[in-house]
Amino acid sequence: MIHARIAGTGSYLPGEPVTNDDLVARGVDTSDEWITTRTGIRARHFAESGVTASELALVAARRAIESAGREAGDIDLVIVATSTPDYIFPSTATLVQAGLGIRNGGAAFDVQAVCCGFVYGMAIAEKFIASGSHRRALVIGAEVFSRILDWTDRSTCVLFGDGAGAVVLEASSAPGVRATALHADGSNHSILCVPGNVADGKVIGDPFLRMDGQAVFKFAVKALGDVAREVTDIAGVPHESVDWLVPHQANIRIIQSTARRLGLPMDKVVTTVDRHGNTSAASIPVALDCAVRAGQIHAGQRVVIEGVGGGFTWGAALIDF
Ligand code: UT7
Repeated sequence: MIHARIAGTGSYLPGEPVTNDDLVARGVDTSDEWITTRTGIRARHFAESGVTASELALVAARRAIESAGREAGDIDLVIVATSTPDYIFPSTATLVQAGLGIRNGGAAFDVQAVCCGFVYGMAIAEKFIASGSHRRALVIGAEVFSRILDWTDRSTCVLFGDGAGAVVLEASSAPGVRATALHADGSNHSILCVPGNVADGKVIGDPFLRMDGQAVFKFAVKALGDVAREVTDIAGVPHESVDWLVPHQANIRIIQSTARRLGLPMDKVVTTVDRHGNTSAASIPVALDCAVRAGQIHAGQRVVIEGVGGGFTWGAALIDF
């Protein structure tokens, strides 16, 4: 049987941290006290105007390839999870592939599952590798959410940031990704969305992120609690055997509620939301890379990653490092 193991991780956050007080100074009608109390967010990063998701992704990808001890030419599958692609087409994945100098490579495509996109990407890559069709995948989450924020809507613009994270997932005889679970419920599409499009050379509809925060909050807590249990059950391992939970980084209160539902102490939960805000599809691979580079997550440990996002989409993966 062919398994898929994580061989390397990388991430990139553009520019200097932008604090809550910096947002106030830029004219957002908010306060550090409100943002930290309601969300746990203290800072986030924003890409310079004109910097694209593929540019952030490329830096994270190079770092992941380097940490795996591989060359770009060893990669035969590139999956980019993003809701803020460079273009309508071609895919951001093909731009990353080109940036890495891969010519005549394997498959490259984008996945659109918003904040759960990286989990979807990992599940897809694992199946490609387990089937024997591909040997070494680059799975990336990359976002420039600053481009879709309405700076006059304080209930959303303070929550998000830009960034990219990547992993190299490769074929192995030893288990790595042991279980995945993916879900969606399109009936909830309107509680978190960017309900606009481009047609006839014009923006049609609303090009900014809109959210019913409380509805999203309730949905996220239940979905994340349930799906983490689901992957431990599929893998047939006890919940207590999980060394680290790496959840989507949207709000510390959602993360704390999820940990409580799982009976996991917070010292087993990776949190970066305070420093990075919500970077959507990038949040899980960035948090994973931070924990690996900080020496928290290491070989021999069991990790659950889980995400929830617009669509609604949600999912998890149980991974032995
Ligand atoms: O990737 C998934 C993406 N999204 C999420 O995970 C978000 C999930 N939801 C949440 O995290 C929370 O619902 C929020 C942090 C977005 C909001 O927290 P809340 O406790 O649900 O606040 P609320 O929307 O009920 O607003 C409470 C008050 C309102 O004022 P009034 O009507 O009580 O006078 C808002 O106008 O807070 C006000 N408010 C703000 N005040 C200062 C909303 N945003 C802000 C702000 N600064 N940035």
